[in-house]
Amino acid sequence: MVRSHFPLPFEMKKILKYFKSSPKYSIKWSNYFEIYANILNKYINKKVTLVEIGVGNGGSLFMWKKFLGKKANIIGVELNPEAKKLEKYGFKIFTGDQSDPTFWKSFYKKIKKVDILIDDGGHTNLQQITSLMESFNHINNNGIIIVEDTHTSYMNYKGFKNPSKNSFINFSTNIIENIHRRNPMLKKKMNQISDKVYSIEYYDSIVVINIKNKNLNYSKNLQNNKKLETSFIDYRFKRVDVKNYKKNKNKFINVIKSKVSKKGYLQKIYEDYQIKKYLKKIKN
Ligand SMILES: C[S@@+](CC[C@H](N)C(=O)[O-])C[C@H]1O[C@@H](n2cnc3c(N)ncnc32)[C@H](O)[C@@H]1O
Repeated sequence: MVRSHFPLPFEMKKILKYFKSSPKYSIKWSNYFEIYANILNKYINKKVTLVEIGVGNGGSLFMWKKFLGKKANIIGVELNPEAKKLEKYGFKIFTGDQSDPTFWKSFYKKIKKVDILIDDGGHTNLQQITSLMESFNHINNNGIIIVEDTHTSYMNYKGFKNPSKNSFINFSTNIIENIHRRNPMLKKKMNQISDKVYSIEYYDSIVVINIKNKNLNYSKNLQNNKKLETSFIDYRFKRVDVKNYKKNKNKFINVIKSKVSKKGYLQKIYEDYQIKKYLKKIKN
């Protein structure tokens, strides 16, 4: 599932054109179109099911249909029952609350599997997290979940109550950890996420979760030819000890001051200090 991250100007122009010419009103951030073009390109003219949470006036439903082609099945999920009116244009609309797990259970009883799930609903932490957690088991192999407007993870108005430890973005860092569980070095238990989420991508205000539930390539340690191994020292593991600290005291004195424990390593303390500096930089 390797995808080019170079902009696809032709597809981007196309989807932007379909957005502008949609017969119904729609609202999207301008940087999204390059992302859509890149990630939805592979589904064009395929028999896929796209579900968009948050239908609004319906403008984006027309855009997806035009972009993906006639074979695509476009479904909307919307709290406002008025959206049902859009069914006359060939879309299937489900009325329901994306933060209600029972809604999703009954939804997936009817719509068994989805290829593309786009969350453009209410954008609160609970809505985004519930929709993701109730859906990822129902996404087809090579399918995707696109969560829009994730800048709300940093917004403290319009009821978003962020930044907080329960923001969607903070929640998504658990997915990152789960993906890394596949590496045997960590000796961690697999769970549904580590078994299904191939990768996660972060963009300005969009998070994309790539699902791969077949032939997920579990990592194994590969060596090309054991006979070629020499006594080469891997310098990553060559630590400077406290003795060397005394020699290098002047160099690092400002860095570590009195923090060196008898057992500790200068290298470790130096690294911690550097990382702390970077953390400070990115937090400010
Ligand atoms: C920004 S609009 C969607 C716009 C549309 N996707 C477009 O691009 O044109 C957000 C929609 O989400 C709906 N919504 C808000 N909270 C929801 C919830 N809990 N469940 C389902 N839909 C919700 C709102 O009623 C509104 O129509």
